[in-house]
Amino acid sequence: MRILVTGATGTLGGALVPALVRAGHQVRALSRTRHESRGKVEWVWGDLISGKGVHDAVSGVDVVAHLATSGRRGRGAVDLPGTRALIHAAREAGVGHLLYTSMVGADRAPTGYLRYKREAEHLVGESGLGWTVLRATPFHQWLHQRLRGLQSLPVLPVDPSLPWQPVHTGEVAALVTQLIAAGPAGREIEFGGPQVLDTRELARSWLIARGLRRACLPVRFPGRLYAAQRAGDLTTDATPTGHITWLEYLLPPPSMPSDDFATEHTASPTSPASQPEQDPDLHVYGGDEGYQRPTRT
Ligand SMILES: NC(=O)c1ccc[n+]([C@@H]2O[C@H](COP(=O)([O-])OP(=O)(O)OC[C@H]3O[C@@H](n4cnc5c(N)ncnc54)[C@H](OP(=O)(O)O)[C@@H]3O)[C@@H](O)[C@H]2O)c1
Repeated sequence: MRILVTGATGTLGGALVPALVRAGHQVRALSRTRHESRGKVEWVWGDLISGKGVHDAVSGVDVVAHLATSGRRGRGAVDLPGTRALIHAAREAGVGHLLYTSMVGADRAPTGYLRYKREAEHLVGESGLGWTVLRATPFHQWLHQRLRGLQSLPVLPVDPSLPWQPVHTGEVAALVTQLIAAGPAGREIEFGGPQVLDTRELARSWLIARGLRRACLPVRFPGRLYAAQRAGDLTTDATPTGHITWLEYLLPPPSMPSDDFATEHTASPTSPASQPEQDPDLHVYGGDEGYQRPTRT
């Protein structure tokens, strides 16, 4: 199939584009930055807020995987006007399936960013196009970035009453690929990680994996969104879940002994073993190149 991916340069897009290519699709990737097209990935320039380049981007595609977002501070600029512009162009182009990525909790706690996600879900559902909404729980990378933002503090403020269900983007990308192959579901589908952990558990594993020593200071975060999260509105009991745990994301699988003495005893300059300070994002299961379960021989 010919598939347009918006948000192709983002955290999930970085896993989805190679996953779609591996599944044999022709991918058109949208970005506000110009990129060189290569192989089965054609990059196109476009901006969902101004609408420039959007009609050309959807022309001739069978499916649109709409991942682009202006994020939590973007006041829904991409999720709402951007989604409207995309739907308008997709209708004119006769696109058969629009898949939109949303967040678990958008329906139960439509506050702040989740309110924009919920409104965009409605736009997609009422678009007249074949549609699927995939609601995911927070990505490992997003939590990692949040914790990294607190790294310079002498103590980490953690709210132990908040449950999190982090999920691996490679597994979300694999599910998006399956949903595209299955065709429009005409409903919302929820997908979460394999474990629900509280903030203290998340922070402690993260500190251990980073080799950092910090005390965790228990606090209670205020606000409606945290109250909804505390009540379990941002986690899901939907099955199947992902398999990769937070700790597996943080720690690369152990290297297996090799029969080849030379290989075993010569660390390459780029191997994780010779770069102990390397960011975990860069060496976890091949980074964001899509999910491949590690095998042990
Ligand atoms: N992050 C999470 O933990 C999480 C959890 C569940 C669901 N989700 C959902 O999953 C989707 C992907 O999230 P993500 O974290 O991968 O996103 P991200 O890393 O923040 O990337 C955002 C993407 O949006 C694109 N974008 C921003 N403004 C744009 C504009 N005006 N026109 C066109 N493209 C624009 C950016 O592309 P360029 O800068 O290249 O233009 C970028 O590729 C979103 O719908 C998000 O709500 C995220």
